[in-house]
This record gives sequence, C-alpha cells and structure tokens, in this order.
Amino acid sequence: MEFDTVIHGGTLVTASETSKGDIGIRNGRIVALAESLPGGERRIDAGGRLVMPGGIEAHAHIAQESSSGIMGADDYLSGSISAAFGGNSSFIPFAAQHRGQSIDDVITTYDQRAASSVIDYSYHLIVTDPTAEVLEDQLPRAFKRGITSFKVFMTYDMMNIGDGGMLDILTVARAHGAITMVHAENNDMIKWMNKRLAAADLTEPKYHAISRPELAEEEAINRAVSLAKLVDAPLFIVHVSTAGGAAIVQREKLAGTRLFAETCPQYLALTREKLDQPGMDGAKFVCSPPLRDAETQEALWRHVQSGTFESVSSDHAPYRFDDTGKFMNGRDIPYPKIANGMPGIAARLPYLFSEGVVKGRISLNEFVALTSTNAAKTFGVTKKGGLAPGMDADIAIWNPEVTRKATLADQHDNMDYTPFEGMELTGVPEIVLNRGAVIVEHGELKGQEGQGRFVPRAPVDLSKGRGYLAKELDPSRNFGARIAP
Ligand code: URP
Ligand code: ZN
Ligand code: ZN
Repeated sequence: MEFDTVIHGGTLVTASETSKGDIGIRNGRIVALAESLPGGERRIDAGGRLVMPGGIEAHAHIAQESSSGIMGADDYLSGSISAAFGGNSSFIPFAAQHRGQSIDDVITTYDQRAASSVIDYSYHLIVTDPTAEVLEDQLPRAFKRGITSFKVFMTYDMMNIGDGGMLDILTVARAHGAITMVHAENNDMIKWMNKRLAAADLTEPKYHAISRPELAEEEAINRAVSLAKLVDAPLFIVHVSTAGGAAIVQREKLAGTRLFAETCPQYLALTREKLDQPGMDGAKFVCSPPLRDAETQEALWRHVQSGTFESVSSDHAPYRFDDTGKFMNGRDIPYPKIANGMPGIAARLPYLFSEGVVKGRISLNEFVALTSTNAAKTFGVTKKGGLAPGMDADIAIWNPEVTRKATLADQHDNMDYTPFEGMELTGVPEIVLNRGAVIVEHGELKGQEGQGRFVPRAPVDLSKGRGYLAKELDPSRNFGARIAP
C-alpha cells in the first residue's frame, strides 16, 4: 500500500488505548495502523514522541463581535494559527447572531470570515433573537448544513434570551438532533451586585469577580438543567467555574440527564487575585464567569479527574490590553465596561498536559478525551478525535519532555499579553497535521491561509439519557394535551 506520509515509531495515544506503532496516511485520511509500516513519500520519525489525535477546540471566539460590539483580536487566520501551535487540528468557534440579524446572514458572514483558516472548522451558532422565522425556518436550515449546536446566553442584556426563549431553542434543537449550549449566569443577580458596587464606588477590576457570585452560576446551571429536562433536550454547560455548578452537573449525569459540560484552563490555573493589581492591569483577567479562588480550583480539578467534564476548552476571547480591546470604552473605566474575555487557544493543551498529565492528575488517555475525542463525540465531528483507519489524519506529535516558560511569542495570536505568561510547562506539540498536511513543525508555520475546510457535523446522539418527558408534557399523563415538543 502506498502512503503519502508514514508517522513512524511513536507512542500512539487515543482516549482508550496506548500502543507503539506506525500510522499510514493517504489523501488526508488515516489508512493503516500497524506495528511497522514501510514506505511513505514522507516519513516522520516519532521516536520518543507521543502521537495523539489533534486537539479539537470547542469554545473559541474568533472574528466575533462581543455582546457590546467589540471585535476580538483574532481573525480566522491568526486564531487558527494560534490553535495549531497549541496542538489543535480543528476548532469550532461561534457564529453569533445579534438581534435583528437573520441566521442565514450570520452564516454567510462567518463563511467569509472563516475562509482564511489554516485548520478545519465548524461553528456553534449563538442565537440571541429567537423569532418565529428563526425557530421554524432558519435554525432547521442551519442544522441541515451541519451546524448542529446552538448556544444561548442567560446573561448579558444584549444576549440573554430569557427562560421562554431558551425553552424554544431547546425544543427546536431536540426536534432536529442539535445540542443546546448555555452560558449560565443569573443576569439579575449580577445586575443587582453591579448596582450596589457602583453605589459604593467600588469599580476597580477586582470587583468584577465580586459582581458575579458563584451562586449566580449555580442558580443558572440548575435552572438551565430544569428547562432542558422539561423538554428532554440535551444540554451542554460551557465554562463551568464553580464547585457548586460542577456538583449539579455530576448529580444530573448520575441521574441520567443528557447533560454535558466543560471547564477551562483559566479556572484551573488562575485565581481572582490576578484581578487585584495596581492600576488597570487586572483588566487582563476580566472574563465571565470570573476567576474564582484556590478552593474552587481544587474542586474543579477533582471534577476533571472524576469525569464531570467532557472537555477542557479555552474560551479564547481575545481583547488586547489597549483601546481596540479591553479599553474600547475608555481607559479608566469601571469594571462593567472592560471587554470580557481572555486568550488561551494556544495554551489550553500545553497547560492541561503539563498540569494534568505530567503532574499525575490525569492519564494520557484522559488528556486525549478531554481535549479532542469527547468534543468530537459531543458535537458530531465524526471523522476526527481518534486514530483509526478512515479518520481524518488530524494528528499532533508531542515531545513530552521539553520544559519551557509560557511566553506571548509562543501563543502566535494577535494579542499583546498572555494570562499564562511565565508558567512552567512541560511537553510541547512539535508537529501538527490537519487532514494529513503538516500545519506546524518544530515552531514553524507550514500551513497555508485558507487550507482549512468547513466540517459539517452530525446530529447529536440521543440514544442515552432519561428518554422521558416531564409528566406535564407526556401526552399519556397530561389529559392528552398535545403540547409535547
Ligand atoms: O468573558 C468571556 N468568556 N467572554 C466571551 C464571551 C462569553 O461569555 O463566552
Ligand atoms: Zn460565555
Ligand atoms: Zn465564550
């Protein structure tokens, strides 16, 4: 058998197995796995290296306007390059509807923006205006195109769609086999805290962490789960940042609720003390939900270890520390006016490898599951996230021993800071392939602008879960009312 590329002599790691062997690649696909393969137009020596499915970044804001209209610093070119340097072979950023926009127009806009990507991509659709046309025509059309995840917000005035809007989205998503993702924070609790902090003139960046209490997340997760259970729809909770929120996810999973969740490196690596810095430096660490404390970090790590989370995602939301980003609304501004979010798409895998695998908190196989395989399964990316014949040759080859300090230069994004600056990291993705093409090799970019492709995704697997409706929606128990979703 002829191969375009053979990756030779590495340790192959998937979410379930670790073995020694070779991978044969032809026409962008893995076509053979064996102890030893001959030939290959190109042979990549992977001796002493780990060969893993390339990361799938399932939470990134790329070429996206924030809720207050601030464009993030990374477009699809810089964002995809940064992702690839961080060991990712594909990503699923958001395509955001702003009020009044049609979903069709949103998708056309993001198709244009994404055309420069060097790695494969899909979009999660952010829905902020669930009109009848959106629910009845536009979302089903997006779904047919392979956009099988819809994201909603329970906070931010310009994004929050309320409980009724959320039920509508959950119902449409369930009917088509899409999954609903949710940013869960109680909007009114936050607004109430903002008012009281402003009245007391407490407006420095550190008060951002105080303004968004852990209870705001816990309450909203609980409510989101209840809404999803009412219509028996699958739900994915993004960026869980609290022990209480994670405990709800764990409890509901045990009860059989079709629930999925992620946390992010920043909630494992950084605490809210980062916000308490002289001047406005704390603005670099303003993100929502906010950074928490060391106790919460420990609890989140235990949830990572015990399987509460499908994924650890970056929530890459890059706003530069200047007037184009963090200070778009002015320099000495109160915390609610600072652009929300921090970068991390290149740091996600190296951080989790170093602090997770190298420090013995998670196994290599769990690392693959948390960074790639589970995202593929959850979001219907059927040809990625594994190393098996027939799968896309999306592969990251890691040197597990190199130690370095995180720097801005290593991130290869359009940012002027990294929140992970100076962190000691062991392990580096040396070679990253997307559909058999080498994108990054030993610190050099080899991928070309525009070589990434849109990946249509499959419906979510509805076979697991409770599989029953709330009593009041079950026609056999609701006096026959025909209101089932
Ligand atoms: O602070 C963050 N995470 N900004 C990005 C928008 C969001 O909430 O996901
Ligand atoms: Zn969010
Ligand atoms: Zn986000």
